[in-house]
Amino acid sequence: NKKLRVAVLPGDGIGREITESAVRVMREAIGKDKIEFIEGDIGGIAYDNTGDPLPKETVDLCKNSHGILLGAVGGDKWDHLPGDKRPEAGLLRLRKELGVYSNLRPAVIYTELREASPLKPHIIGDKLDIMIVRELTGGIYFGEKERIEERASDKMAYSKYEVERIARIAFEQAMGRRKRITSIDKANVLFSSKLWRETVEEVAKSYPEVEVNHLYIDNAAMQMVIDPGQFDVIVTSNMFGDIISDIASVITGSIGMLPSASMGDGVSLYEPIHGSAPDIADKNIANPMATIISGAMLMENSLNMMEEAQRIYRAIEKVLEAGYRTSDISTKGGVPLGTREITQKIIEYL
Ligand code: NAD
Ligand code: IPM
Ligand code: MN
Repeated sequence: NKKLRVAVLPGDGIGREITESAVRVMREAIGKDKIEFIEGDIGGIAYDNTGDPLPKETVDLCKNSHGILLGAVGGDKWDHLPGDKRPEAGLLRLRKELGVYSNLRPAVIYTELREASPLKPHIIGDKLDIMIVRELTGGIYFGEKERIEERASDKMAYSKYEVERIARIAFEQAMGRRKRITSIDKANVLFSSKLWRETVEEVAKSYPEVEVNHLYIDNAAMQMVIDPGQFDVIVTSNMFGDIISDIASVITGSIGMLPSASMGDGVSLYEPIHGSAPDIADKNIANPMATIISGAMLMENSLNMMEEAQRIYRAIEKVLEAGYRTSDISTKGGVPLGTREITQKIIEYL
């Protein structure tokens, strides 16, 4: 079977709308029938259908695909469930099962969206292009958890091996960019962060051309808002990366713009960084761009379709240049387009 296969996991909330948009754009850019898109269940919908937020069939489908595109999971409806049945647990298990320890989140500000950023123009500067490298299969997300009556705990642990491999990914990224790394931790308080910092320093010895800087997460959050231009590559742990990337995303105009690629040794997973946005689900107003760009990253990195992916990136730029936006991106007087309508525009510009 030589046909390329992409697993599509829409998930919950706006997940279906945004993955539908991405698949439409990908099909159009690739040319009909070269790829099969096969859907699988994950998250709340999977729990409703099977009692498990990550059914075995979905894992099998993912492992037998060349790339995976995921929408988002979660919603109030499932918030009362025990931890391991929650939609979010399904996503975490998928990341773990696939071994995708490295989560790349590029935060780039499009020229056309400078006005949509909550930051003043002189703070944005002339360029904002940050690559956040987030560790994805370790740390506090996956440590031992315990709940005994009125006391609960989540253990945050990292092994040197885990830090080394994510640091190497970050240094390789930096070598292809502006050769500057900021490692973010809380080494003034946390043991795991102290190990993190030491290990990053050790890996740095193999990359003498790269300038390394360490920031504590609290200061880093502030720096992101007062001087984001200082960042080239950021490398950080699972939870700090989760938080800092939401801050970085909104600087670029909207969380609805930021894609991500999660990689390890096997198949890679691509998803927007935002959630299932239950507040705007099924209203045809969600911004599909983060998911469409994630789809283009999938084509570029997992299907070897560089040119086709480039066409998608360019089409998005053209749509923004032409002034089309979804309602999450504040426009002065413009009429926002719906999810399906902006998808159609992207297809027209391909
Ligand atoms: P969220 O990212 O879903 O939404 C935060 C805010 O951003 C909301 O106001 C939402 O309307 C807006 N927003 C998000 N994506 C948007 C888009 N594409 N277009 C326009 N507006 C958008 O975060 P939340 O509200 O904290 O979480 C909602 C649910 O999503 C929770 O169940 C959470 O666990 C889950 N979640 C899932 C993922 C994931 O699947 N990867 C990521 C984050 C949160
Ligand atoms: C993300 C999300 C997830 C995370 C949740 C839903 C488990 O916030 O992908 O950023 O924290 O990793
Ligand atoms: Mn998040």
